[in-house]
Amino acid sequence: MSEHWVVSGASRGIGLELVRQLAARGERVTASLRDEAARDVLLASLAAQHARIETKLFDMRDGEAILSAAKTVAGPIDVLIANAGVFGPKPQTPLQMDFEAALDVFSINTLGPLRLVRALLPQLAGAANPRIVLVSSELGASADVRPSSAVYAASKIALNKFAQCLAEELKPKGIVVIALSPGWVRTDMGGPNATLSVQESGSGILATIDALTIAESGSFIDYQGERLAW
Ligand SMILES: NC(=O)c1ccc[n+]([C@@H]2O[C@H](COP(=O)([O-])OP(=O)(O)OC[C@H]3O[C@@H](n4cnc5c(N)ncnc54)[C@H](OP(=O)(O)O)[C@@H]3O)[C@@H](O)[C@H]2O)c1
Repeated sequence: MSEHWVVSGASRGIGLELVRQLAARGERVTASLRDEAARDVLLASLAAQHARIETKLFDMRDGEAILSAAKTVAGPIDVLIANAGVFGPKPQTPLQMDFEAALDVFSINTLGPLRLVRALLPQLAGAANPRIVLVSSELGASADVRPSSAVYAASKIALNKFAQCLAEELKPKGIVVIALSPGWVRTDMGGPNATLSVQESGSGILATIDALTIAESGSFIDYQGERLAW
């Protein structure tokens, strides 16, 4: 039976591939993008599978726009994949970062997913097996120390902490929450030398989400379903 999936950041990279694979499986998909040009590109690339794809336009920093878009999404929502994210400014070491640009990264990568979760919670609560996937990164593991990606890593570490706390807060409602690492993927963010194609990462992510149970809630998992150390 098909499910309703919401994917943010569907204009390119991992988000676009997730929407493509979900559409091919015949799922109902609500995809978020930032503008109409990106929506046209997405819909053109999905060709005949349009019928089950809805699009919503908002920026992850804009809480009001997210709330009004969320009100137009018909529930229930089975899976929310908060995927949209940015690497942020370069350089971004603690001594060299631009503070305003760093705040922007936190607004997109750390608070953006929570804005989305809060706005869509009524539709998630109405699903039989609701799952929330906050797309994080292995750079957000605390043992990984690289000054050159300090802002990005800190935004994902904070997202990981929110994933743990949100899992606890939503346990009484039976909503599963995980932080997920997609692996190192060849996208605009991951670059050409990354080890995985979007297809490999995307199919692994979907198989991992398909197999999720409440026992995994509150954990950090990679695209192959393996648990990661925080
Ligand atoms: N690629 C990797 O190796 C890798 C590794 C670990 C984790 N990740 C994570 O995986 C997720 C997807 O990454 P990706 O590699 O697919 O990146 P990408 O190719 O750079 O795509 C980023 C997506 O996020 C959207 N986005 C950026 N800023 C936004 C904003 N302010 N509001 C709404 N949407 C926004 C982009 O939309 P626009 O086109 O409008 O900019 C785009 O759809 C991110 O959370 C990233 O941190 C990626």
